[in-house]
Amino acid sequence: MKTSIKRVGVLTSGGDSPGMNAAIRAIVRASVYHNLECVGIYRGFEGLMEGDFKELNARSVKNLINRGGTFLKSARSAEFRTKEGREIAYNHLKNANIDALVVIGGDGTFRGAAAFSKEFNFPVIGLPGTIDNDINGTDFTIGYDTALNTVVEAIDKIRDTAHSHNRLFLVEVMGRDAGDLALNAGVGAGAEEILIPEEDLGKDKLVESLRRSKKAGKTSSIIVVSEGDQIGKNIFKLADYIEENLKGYEVRVTVLGHIQRGGSPSCFDRVLASRLGVAAIDALVAGEQNVMIGIKNHEVLSVPFSEAIKKDTSIDTDLIRVSDIVSL
Ligand code: F6P
Repeated sequence: MKTSIKRVGVLTSGGDSPGMNAAIRAIVRASVYHNLECVGIYRGFEGLMEGDFKELNARSVKNLINRGGTFLKSARSAEFRTKEGREIAYNHLKNANIDALVVIGGDGTFRGAAAFSKEFNFPVIGLPGTIDNDINGTDFTIGYDTALNTVVEAIDKIRDTAHSHNRLFLVEVMGRDAGDLALNAGVGAGAEEILIPEEDLGKDKLVESLRRSKKAGKTSSIIVVSEGDQIGKNIFKLADYIEENLKGYEVRVTVLGHIQRGGSPSCFDRVLASRLGVAAIDALVAGEQNVMIGIKNHEVLSVPFSEAIKKDTSIDTDLIRVSDIVSL
């Protein structure tokens, strides 16, 4: 079913991620391609509730494909979680003659978007934008690949010091509830141990395993700790525990923090953002709504918001096995 949509609003919401600008660029240019007007909405749902809008054209998004962050800015909005907040947003959209929305963000963004779309029967399409790669129904989220490379580059540098001083480093990696970033970056950076929220290793087993590594001749170790992991929740306390229970290593902690969210997007993220951005407008034109556009087995597809926001706590057990073997 074709729709009569004429004017599309686009916003970024939640934590920024590299490639969001490339996605906005694709959405704007795909709108132009389909003869639709496109309006940028600043600071996510916050700007939506304030009517902070700006007309965009193909030239408004020049020189953006390589830039990290989001030029539309982002926010986490508490007010949009309320019905009153969503009603204010709806009135601003109606006043600006906007008929459809594309939202780029994570599961929190999709939750808000799904509630809004249902309440006002308003067409909304979502694009997965988060470094956490924790969205159901898509193999990759925009920004994840860049963050992986940032983490690996940082750990490569830490490894130089770990090796030179015979030290054990705990490196905290982002990922509120998901271990994808920690697990994949850990394997890529050659970490001895990787602590993730999906798997409860326990402090004793960790120390035991580090002791074995030492016995096997290792003189330094890198442990990647996902910020959501239970025993890694207080990484400094974990460092004290290891120092007390494993003699012969000096332990140091590095919290990578927000450097993981910034920087120029990788080619993978730019291509992903471009594909998903174009598909979002194609989907709106085809009459789809209330779906996220994701990618599965190299194929771009639509996933209902209700599916996308389901928490999937499964983890790549094969990769965990690989990590155990290659870190021997
Ligand atoms: O969701 C992305 C993310 O970077 C998480 O990995 C992290 O826990 C959180 O955002 C940090 O959010 P903030 O920048 O609001 O402190």
